[in-house]
Amino acid sequence: MKVRFAPSLLAADFLCLSDEIKKAEDAGADMLHYDVMDGVYVPNISFGFPILKQVSGASSLPLDVHMMTACPQNYLETLASCGASFVTVHVDVMPEDELARTLRTIRELGMKPGAALRPGNGAERIMPFIDLISLALVMTVEPGFGGQKFMPDMLPKIADVRAAIERENPACLLEVDGGLGPDTVRAAAEAGADTFVVGTAAFRAPDMKKALASMRAAAE
Ligand code: DX5
Ligand code: ZN
Repeated sequence: MKVRFAPSLLAADFLCLSDEIKKAEDAGADMLHYDVMDGVYVPNISFGFPILKQVSGASSLPLDVHMMTACPQNYLETLASCGASFVTVHVDVMPEDELARTLRTIRELGMKPGAALRPGNGAERIMPFIDLISLALVMTVEPGFGGQKFMPDMLPKIADVRAAIERENPACLLEVDGGLGPDTVRAAAEAGADTFVVGTAAFRAPDMKKALASMRAAAE
């Protein structure tokens, strides 16, 4: 299974963003993870579209945008014009039919739709959308902040989502986000994850290239 690493810019030094992006590219990142928070869906506010647009102009890596927002459907055209590659929305922010519509619109706009489960949402919440998405995101911390501890009780959920992907949409990526690092990547990979968001473990490592290489080896 091909393994992907997505350093999360939330952990970068914002005053040196272009250097940080370059560092992630040189370290072998497969994509850049970009966390949008609105202070409503999560109790924190991060960064939004003007910065996203500059980030996409500064990097050729796919931009993996994680919408931790209450109304992601209002920003889909904006996300497309900012150069987002993946747009992932949480399954519990709108009714099922509206979420299905939102995921289809993301694809029609030329981006890859993703659906996310926060810890309180079980694997069954993603099943109605599994054939509509290019990425399933299982959060392994409560969304809103970097640097939290990985929740090992999410491992069975990762395995359940992996089983559904194998059955119904084998091309779909299975991403994990939150507390991933040298000590947790292997367990998540064994449970079935193939795409790893790494914030603290990438940008705060003394050597990001070495850190990504050793986590990649652990995941493979
Ligand atoms: C948290 C964000 C994560 C965060 C991960 O709500 O979704 O992407 O940046 O940070 P670490 O890897 O430090 O847990
Ligand atoms: Zn994230």
